[in-house]
Amino acid sequence: MRISFSQRQKKQVRSHARAHDRPAQRVKAKEKMAALLVVNNISKQFGSDASAVSALAGVSLEVYQDEFISVIGPSGCGKSTLFNIIGGLLTDYEGEVLIDGVKVNGCHPDIGMVFQEESTFPWRSARENVEFPLEIQGVGREERRERAMALLKLVGLADFSERYPAELSGGMKARTAIARTLAARPKILLMDEPLGALDEQTRLLLGDKLLQVHRELRQTSLLITHSITEAVQLSDKVVVMTFRPGRIKRVVNIDLPRPRSSAIIESERFGVLVASIWRDLREEASRGLAASEAALQTGAAAGH
Ligand SMILES: Nc1ncnc2c1ncn2[C@@H]1O[C@H](COP(=O)(O)OP(=O)(O)O)[C@@H](O)[C@H]1O
Ligand SMILES: [Mg+2]
Repeated sequence: MRISFSQRQKKQVRSHARAHDRPAQRVKAKEKMAALLVVNNISKQFGSDASAVSALAGVSLEVYQDEFISVIGPSGCGKSTLFNIIGGLLTDYEGEVLIDGVKVNGCHPDIGMVFQEESTFPWRSARENVEFPLEIQGVGREERRERAMALLKLVGLADFSERYPAELSGGMKARTAIARTLAARPKILLMDEPLGALDEQTRLLLGDKLLQVHRELRQTSLLITHSITEAVQLSDKVVVMTFRPGRIKRVVNIDLPRPRSSAIIESERFGVLVASIWRDLREEASRGLAASEAALQTGAAAGH
């Protein structure tokens, strides 16, 4: 009895000491809302011989519930690689990905991905495309239809629900793909240049649909884009990446009021934010351009 009493006492003293020794910063961090997604010190190299490419180096990022984050950087800087790691399509990398504090490696139901490439099923109507993940989940016919129609309405395609992809414009197909991914109700939506193939005006208008999705579903979203305008229009934060190996150069807080629409591009603050991002990006994009031109020159010299 005596022994167990003294052990308990020791334990109490230890835990008391721990609580008081804890650095103020850590207590503060604990009080703050925990990040939904944590990307911790991720590095990725493709290949191991002389031609190895270092795609990402020490990338860390925290994403909170409801946030809309855009990632921008020169072509080839590792943006898609980063998303493929978060989405579980690439599992061989250094560092860690945590969702709700739990380490994940591989595909995860909380993450939904949308790609730039044509990814709608051509043999299914827009509605049947959106119903697809619900079929997989075993959701009943009526509910499937209802949920798919609600999502198509949200992205502005209610009148096109029975059309097949071949009858839809590029922007409509992109929205169908987004609605289909949303149907699975992912906690985090990853979009890799979903509007990348569209012209600037269409992109701005479709950006309004993404703003609506974000607002109505409180959808935590990460977007890769090469458009600074699009990034500023939509985001709470813009992550600017360096040229290869991709590192985070700066995270720019977009302090524009919400709710927003594409009309926000008229504001003075919008112009200031775009200019500030371009200042950072310009240097990286120039390095990217120089590298791709050098590669072309080497190819030409080698007779390609
Ligand atoms: N599967 C792969 N095998 C080898 N190299 C790859 C592979 N995927 C990407 N890379 C290389 O990694 C770098 C980053 O690619 P990526 O993430 O697609 O860039 P971004 O999306 O920013 O344009 C590029 O140099 C690319 O060629
Ligand atoms: Mg890419």
